Amino acid sequence: MGAPRSSCAFASLLFCLLSAAIAQRVKVLDEVTGYLGQEVTLPCNFVSTGNEIKVSLVTWMKEAAGRKQNVAVFHPDHKPNYPLETEQGRIRFKTQTLEDATLIIGPLRMADEGTYACEFAAYPLGSEDGTTNLVVLAKPTNTAEAQEVKASNLELPVAVCISDRGKPPARITWQSGLNGNATVSEVTNADGTVTVTSYYRMVPTKEANGQRITCIVEHKTQPQPEALPVVLSILYPPEVTIEGYDDNWYLSRNEATLKCTAKGNPPPTDFIWSTANGPLPKTVEVQGDILLVRNVDASVNTTFRCQATNRVGQVSTDQVIFVRDKPNLEGAGTTGGIIGGLIAAIVAVAVVATGILICRQQQKNRMDREEDDQEGPPAYKPPPPCQLSDETEPVPTPSEAESIPLKAPFYEPSTTDDLFGGVAATTMEEAPRYHELPTLEEREAAADAGPSMEDEYLDQINPIYDALSFAATEEEAAMAPMPTDKAFIMSRAMYV
Ligand SMILES: *[C@@H]1O[C@H](CO)[C@@H](O)[C@H](O)[C@H]1NC(C)=O
Ligand SMILES: *[C@@H]1O[C@H](CO)[C@@H](O)[C@H](O)[C@H]1NC(C)=O
Repeated sequence: MGAPRSSCAFASLLFCLLSAAIAQRVKVLDEVTGYLGQEVTLPCNFVSTGNEIKVSLVTWMKEAAGRKQNVAVFHPDHKPNYPLETEQGRIRFKTQTLEDATLIIGPLRMADEGTYACEFAAYPLGSEDGTTNLVVLAKPTNTAEAQEVKASNLELPVAVCISDRGKPPARITWQSGLNGNATVSEVTNADGTVTVTSYYRMVPTKEANGQRITCIVEHKTQPQPEALPVVLSILYPPEVTIEGYDDNWYLSRNEATLKCTAKGNPPPTDFIWSTANGPLPKTVEVQGDILLVRNVDASVNTTFRCQATNRVGQVSTDQVIFVRDKPNLEGAGTTGGIIGGLIAAIVAVAVVATGILICRQQQKNRMDREEDDQEGPPAYKPPPPCQLSDETEPVPTPSEAESIPLKAPFYEPSTTDDLFGGVAATTMEEAPRYHELPTLEEREAAADAGPSMEDEYLDQINPIYDALSFAATEEEAAMAPMPTDKAFIMSRAMYV
């Protein structure tokens, strides 16, 4: 303030001082945001530094569409006046002083939005003002719901999401794994708010029934988008099935039941039982979706029909009943056949696998022999093949494990008990043992006689013969030791 003062002539010192300071005397906010239906405060203060300036009148004016209208006027000799106001007390000064002209408006209307000028009439300088822009927002009410439609192959709206009375208009999107798209429309309401409506449209298949999609509403008044889940409701007629027929209804059988089940939207609740020829035989009892036959006789040798109904349609399905003279034992025979076939298949696989492994082993042995014939050190020496007499490696390597099935016939029932459980164990006990192994004493004796004896003994066994005779003679016994290498690894320890 020193600079303006020094440049001023003495006569106009006062004026100079005031003009430098006056721009800062009216304190307002540039912009104020209010919410529809709530109260908003427009601050305005006159900062007085001394007695030189006399304020006589405070006026709030609203500028809308290029016109200025007086909104509120205060003179200390009179009551405050609100020329525009029709509703008592909606617009009011916060205090009734000439220094603080803060205005309160509420409940806010959309029409209150605009530019407001707060003006002080001061002597000797005349009027001075500050302007505030009032923005009115409206928080929308968001809802989403399914549109019940019948399943069809025409695109239809299956869900609707509404953001009602927002300002500015909300943005609506959909989150969905379904193959649909949205159509949005906006309507401006009388109060200046906007209602946004979005329909989610798709081809309503019955598979879409019960699927969840989500409406996402974004709005300036919401810190985060609002997610509104919708579970689709596609109406479709009942899909009816009759369950419980076991193909074993025979004369004088007690308690045979049929159950009618029906899917549909809405879920069918009414079931009507009949026969293809008309009414039900007297001997059957109906308990809702259950048809109960306490005693099977010739009268139920017919075709039963269940009809299910929902709002969309009425559908029925038939079940043909064949009443036999004697119980049907075929079912058990079929099961036995399956088991037999399974065993045969396992045996066949085992035989083929054993054959392949034997082939490989023989090839390997041949290669090793050829290698040994070569003179000079070979560039690469493959790991030694598994020998039947190899006693120094209790833990087999993968390549060794391949060769292990050669020893398949030498299983020991006691070692497989744990592996295959009681059933396997009983069949094992009955299984004949091929190639009786030498007892411990015999083997010790053999070892004393010379280290090569045991090797020779084992080499004499033709592995192909072993595998084939073994598999063909006793199917069940084969099943037990063949499938896992583990059994062979363990049995190996028995004679090593
Ligand atoms: C909605 O999607 C279908 C295909 O999914 C398309 O044919 C149709 O034009 C889309 N409608 C709009 C309004 O985008
Ligand atoms: C049930 O009907 C079939 C023919 O539909 C007939 O062959 C069969 O003998 C009938 N059973 C009884 C128990 O009458």
